[in-house]
Amino acid sequence: MRDKIVAGNWKMNNDLAETEELLGKLKLQMVKDPEATVMVAPSFTNLYPTFQALKGTPVIVAAQNMHENDKGAYTGEVSAAMLKSVGVTTVILGHSERRAYFNENGEILAKKVNAAIDNEMTVIFCFGEELEDRKSGKHFDLVETQLREALFNLPQSAWKNIILAYEPVWAIGTGETASPEQAQEMHKHIRNLLEKNVGKEVASNTSILYGGSVKPNNAKEIFAKEDVDGGLIGGASLNAVDFVQIVNSF
Ligand code: G3P
Repeated sequence: MRDKIVAGNWKMNNDLAETEELLGKLKLQMVKDPEATVMVAPSFTNLYPTFQALKGTPVIVAAQNMHENDKGAYTGEVSAAMLKSVGVTTVILGHSERRAYFNENGEILAKKVNAAIDNEMTVIFCFGEELEDRKSGKHFDLVETQLREALFNLPQSAWKNIILAYEPVWAIGTGETASPEQAQEMHKHIRNLLEKNVGKEVASNTSILYGGSVKPNNAKEIFAKEDVDGGLIGGASLNAVDFVQIVNSF
């Protein structure tokens, strides 16, 4: 049985005081033992305070990125070992904003994924098509390419550390959510790709999250779809009440 997961990607939001305020509200709102595995991904500067604040709660802290190298002259970068040293063992990789603004391509992402797996971290791997890909019917092939480039060379054993997050770029931050049917169609395609390229067990056991304008008023219908195992939440994760409503949408 695969995990149901709701992860909040805070992106470049919340200074230390705002982080502490949001976490305080989150702890007040959270149910004791949610059905879903809950994660929050603050910015690097807030990882340690967040890890400390969430000790004793079921909420997992994730990073939004990491470098593929262990150490060295990479100004501004953060390694897996540094993340683990502050209690963080989960990392988001391949987000469309990193692909778009920081030129992260399949080759770089494959190195980042391998580095995370080598450091026994859990990876939330993001991928998804642009609107023009969908309009031209290329979205299925594009998603297959993104998965193949970064993940399909992994050994079977690595997949226990992989969470997939399908995020159609045209739905991110736009309020234009994919319909539950569109989400299910792509998630089924992804699961079929996993079965074909990795194996039946991995296909069955890998959680595939949907991301892209998930809100309290649409989460239940999307999460009810057979091959949707939860969500990667952006804007709505910055509001404790909204985020917990989404967590409770199974
Ligand atoms: O990583 C999640 C994010 O890309 C989705 O953002 O604001 O559309 O929920 P949002």
